[in-house]
Amino acid sequence: MAKEFKRYLVTSALPYANGPVHIGHLAGVYIPSDIYVRYLRLKGCDVISVCGSDEHGVPITIKARKEGITPQQVVDRYHEIIKKSFEGLGMSFDIYSRTSSATHAVTASDFFRKLYDDGKFIEQTSEQYYDEEAQTFLADRYIVGTCPKCGNDRAYGDQCEKCGSTLSPDELIDPHSAVSGSVPVKRETKHWYLPLDQYETFLREWILDGHKEWKSNVYGQCKSWLDGGLLPRAVSRDLDWGIPVPVEGAEGKVLYVWFDAPIGYISATKDLTPDWEKYWKSEDTKMVHFIGKDNIVFHCIVFPSMLKAHGDYILPENVPANEFLNLEGDKISTSRNWAVWLHEYLEEFAGKEDVLRYVLCANAPETKDNDFTWKDFQARNNSELVAVLGNFVNRALVLTQKYYGGKVPACGELNDYDRATIEEMAAVKGSLENNIENYHFREALKDAMNIARIGNKYLADTEPWKVVKTDPERVKTILNIALQITANTAIAIEPFMPFSAEKILRMLAVEKFSWEQLGATDLIMEGHMIGTPELLFEKIEDDVIQRQLDKLAAAKEANMAAESTQEVEDQKDSISFDDFQKMDIRVSTILSAEKVAKTKKLLKLTVDTGIDQREIVSGIAEHFAPEELVGRQVLVLVNLEPRELKGILSRGMILMAEDASGKLRLLEPNEKTNNGAVVG
Ligand code: MF3
Ligand code: ZN
Repeated sequence: MAKEFKRYLVTSALPYANGPVHIGHLAGVYIPSDIYVRYLRLKGCDVISVCGSDEHGVPITIKARKEGITPQQVVDRYHEIIKKSFEGLGMSFDIYSRTSSATHAVTASDFFRKLYDDGKFIEQTSEQYYDEEAQTFLADRYIVGTCPKCGNDRAYGDQCEKCGSTLSPDELIDPHSAVSGSVPVKRETKHWYLPLDQYETFLREWILDGHKEWKSNVYGQCKSWLDGGLLPRAVSRDLDWGIPVPVEGAEGKVLYVWFDAPIGYISATKDLTPDWEKYWKSEDTKMVHFIGKDNIVFHCIVFPSMLKAHGDYILPENVPANEFLNLEGDKISTSRNWAVWLHEYLEEFAGKEDVLRYVLCANAPETKDNDFTWKDFQARNNSELVAVLGNFVNRALVLTQKYYGGKVPACGELNDYDRATIEEMAAVKGSLENNIENYHFREALKDAMNIARIGNKYLADTEPWKVVKTDPERVKTILNIALQITANTAIAIEPFMPFSAEKILRMLAVEKFSWEQLGATDLIMEGHMIGTPELLFEKIEDDVIQRQLDKLAAAKEANMAAESTQEVEDQKDSISFDDFQKMDIRVSTILSAEKVAKTKKLLKLTVDTGIDQREIVSGIAEHFAPEELVGRQVLVLVNLEPRELKGILSRGMILMAEDASGKLRLLEPNEKTNNGAVVG
């Protein structure tokens, strides 16, 4: 017999705060999780839903470096964007926290310390790549080089994003540091490891014997990890962004992001309620982790081992991970901008939040990867939401207004067809519950929509608009039943489409129902005045869809252009205005140019800087013939420290731009300018 639980703790994977959320995240994790918790709340269960931003880890530091801002600025920015867009889509987390919070630092630190004190870690010294120039250890992500599989010269030490291969830094051809560009060396460093191999028996019994009901993709992945044998996993890193390892002699080391992030679920619960322990420490709590498939090992193997090692906490009862959603046939990619971003959708499709929720659930990658296409989005909106759900609700309400001025008519004697319809509607509840409770949200959504279908068919079959001329009494019964079905529709779709459910309730002028009322036919009382009918959904026209397709086409084109040329260099660290002002740049004229003897690259130039005439040695002989330079106006950095090159004192530097193909261009004033004019 299934275990009875007193309360639910639902977690949704904490999104990395290094970019906005896209439809892949939504379909994989957040839509299913929100459906589940809304359903449980409607049922009156004790349930909390926790989420928050995952704000540590190497990618965030890389992003910060790229943009010349601090990691804190990166996570502040994306935390706000993500939080706001989740709210916009109606995600009903009880708390949306963040792992840079003070509560989390203490919680994660204490967690580590307990495992450390209890001797649950092993300490191990290993060789890691080190950047001598930047004086820092390099995470695999920080090492770039050429992919041995596809030749991409911007592959990372852990992965090639072009061909998707998993790599180790040792495999890269011509590896260099992404921080300084220098060639990294190996250096010894000490880290703490959780010996996962010691948890194999526990995991086998708990998952393979104890949770055969888990989704087959999840169970299968766990089994293959366990069959492959587990190894100790490092839980610390050499990095300056994260939660410091709370032991002596761990300077410069932080908790590995995958150690601290899942503890974020605990911290978020603490921030939500002083009563957090009853959710985390009682066997009466059913904990469910909603995640995407790339998170399975962490939530089914690593985090449970951490919880087990700690000893105070419960384990998840289920981990309903989804597969991936593709977009128009291609893998969604943040770096290639191949995505539909939630914050953009909310702006461009204001008022259509439920359409996205509907399409992503109807098409969710529950058992295999799935594809999102804009055509399908349009078709589902027009032929399902508008034609079935919207049409039914609208007809029931409009006819009630038209025939009875909005006053709910009495229900007379039922005929067999009425009874069959009501029975059919009432039967949906069981299937819908069963599907949600077993994480079959696509099927559950079909059940919910089925109520509207039943209503639509009922009106089409009973034809009140015709019968009203011959048997007005009968029409009262028909519309009373249609209104009951409308109210039932509002209950059934609430977990999936909360905005539309609310709108139906508003149009019916009634308060929210409870889940247990689903199937009832006494929800709308005789004599009650309903509100004004409005359209629940609108048709989406071709031009709207075309605009989205054009946007994707533009992204594809930009990618192709970027891939065919050299990529643009990352922005450098920011400098102050004062720093900038220290540079003295002047418009100057090149008076003469000649090759420096016995060199291939050097030219000796005489320039008139307005201040003086001076010599500059420049490594541009392979790019310019001396005669094409004479007489040209250029920009010269005049206060660069003089230095001697091949016996000539060079006093300054000619500014030039290097284009994508490596060609140099002079920077000339757009009109003749007096020499010595200050650039700034
Ligand atoms: N940030 C991770 C990701 O987006 C998920 C972290 S889930 C947590 O893949 F459990 F670690 F919080
Ligand atoms: Zn590759």
